[in-house]
Amino acid sequence: MKEPIRPILAGHKALVVGVANDQSIAYGCAKAFRTAGAEVAMTWLNDKARPHVEPLAKELEAAITGPLDVSLPGQLEAIFDAIAKRWGKLDILVHSIAFAPRADLQGGLLDCSAEGFAKAMDVSCHSFIRMARLAAPLMTDGGTMFAMSYLGANRVVQNYNVMGPVKAALEASCRYLALELGPRRIRVHAISPGPLKTRAASGLKDFELLLNEAAEKSPLGEIVDIMDVGYTCAYLATPFAHRITGGTVYVDGGANIVA
Ligand SMILES: NC(=O)c1ccc[n+]([C@@H]2O[C@H](COP(=O)([O-])OP(=O)(O)OC[C@H]3O[C@@H](n4cnc5c(N)ncnc54)[C@H](O)[C@@H]3O)[C@@H](O)[C@H]2O)c1
Repeated sequence: MKEPIRPILAGHKALVVGVANDQSIAYGCAKAFRTAGAEVAMTWLNDKARPHVEPLAKELEAAITGPLDVSLPGQLEAIFDAIAKRWGKLDILVHSIAFAPRADLQGGLLDCSAEGFAKAMDVSCHSFIRMARLAAPLMTDGGTMFAMSYLGANRVVQNYNVMGPVKAALEASCRYLALELGPRRIRVHAISPGPLKTRAASGLKDFELLLNEAAEKSPLGEIVDIMDVGYTCAYLATPFAHRITGGTVYVDGGANIVA
């Protein structure tokens, strides 16, 4: 980015869930929103994650922070309560979290346990629906919701295993939520970034191969970075994108079009 970004999102309030460190896609989103003038709320998974996330929240002058493990009853409600009290509204929601038990993730779909499948689906997909339910009443001027997907949702990617069906469900959820929330001028996007070296990605077997292949396949010849994803979300949150909803937006240098 050579030109400074104008504060086109000034006055907008964004909740960004999924920052673990400065390599997280969610951090790229929060930083892009802030650069475009929005105020952000950021969460950390637990006490262990807090020392890694809190300095980033300070850097981005996050107005609201707190713990959020979507598996723990009450934590999601608490963060939305804090938003209602402090801001009284919300414009942008980012769901950038995923989890699958390692044995289920690495063992192939055929051997995925019912518990592992349910856990992956709950944290990586249904939690987005829960967030959307709590966010929608606060999006009184309309709003934009984002969920992070991956190409493995609709193509078979080696070693992606259980996360393939889970991301397919996430993308379908975005479409259905887009239809249900459209009358309230709330737009819902699945974002499908190319592979990025993050902590979540380190759980995938042979991830380096995916990275190399992504660079080779991409018409633009490069892998993407977290700010590419962040600025795409920032654009989609602006009025310039107010007629776009429900689809999956690839941020992968075009790699998905190449056989
Ligand atoms: N890295 C990639 O190559 C890539 C590509 C496409 C999509 N994605 C998706 O992007 C999203 C963000 O992942 P990332 O790559 O930035 O990795 P990351 O490790 O930085 O982020 C994953 C986040 O999920 C959070 N999380 C896990 N379980 C949780 C729970 N129970 N409650 C709340 N939060 C929980 C973690 O705390 C972490 O902040 C994920 O949905 C991932 O599937 C990643």
